Amino acid sequence: MKTDASGRPRIAILISGTGSNMEAILSACKNGSLDAEPAIVISDNPDAAGLRKARARGVKTLASPYRARVPREENEAPILKALRDEGVEWVVLAGFMKILTPGFVRAFPGRIVNIHPALLPSFPGAHAIADVLEAGSDITGVTVHIVDELVDHGTVISQTEVAIFPGDTEETLAPRIHDAEHKLYPRTLQQLFHDDF
Ligand code: GAR
Repeated sequence: MKTDASGRPRIAILISGTGSNMEAILSACKNGSLDAEPAIVISDNPDAAGLRKARARGVKTLASPYRARVPREENEAPILKALRDEGVEWVVLAGFMKILTPGFVRAFPGRIVNIHPALLPSFPGAHAIADVLEAGSDITGVTVHIVDELVDHGTVISQTEVAIFPGDTEETLAPRIHDAEHKLYPRTLQQLFHDDF
């Protein structure tokens, strides 16, 4: 594992789609509020808008599409190789919608971080915002956690609450969730990388 010349940890950001959390992290690295070097942005989805945004910011990218009917380990192999080649110290999941194998998690023990759009352990899964509305909750939020071998599980390192208003829909709630994520994730990563808990 490497740090850059100024001792900043090298990170990889894994995405599947829009990449708004990735953008918040890249901005924080650039403005100095997050002491980390974005070594590479990786997506399982070659059409992810986030890949184009990362390239526009001059960050190295890798599209590594998952093939159907192929073991997950085989799909993960090019990603693991890139992480090793880039000397990545921390793996930051930012809307990466594939479940990692135990072998992948063990390759970076305690060094894979995820953000989830609900207050874990409530509402795990890929449709958390819809699920929380469906359940009729009046409060939700955002969770940053260390990734373990279970889905949306692992030590919670930070959370923030987001109120749900009467009449909220996914379209009205999601932007407030994302705003909360964009504030919480870079701040939490800074604390995590620099032992400030
Ligand atoms: C974020 O809301 C993130 O919390 C969620 O995907 C979105 C990605 O948005 N992740 C999960 O649901 C993981 N279970 P982004 O691509 O704009 O950052």
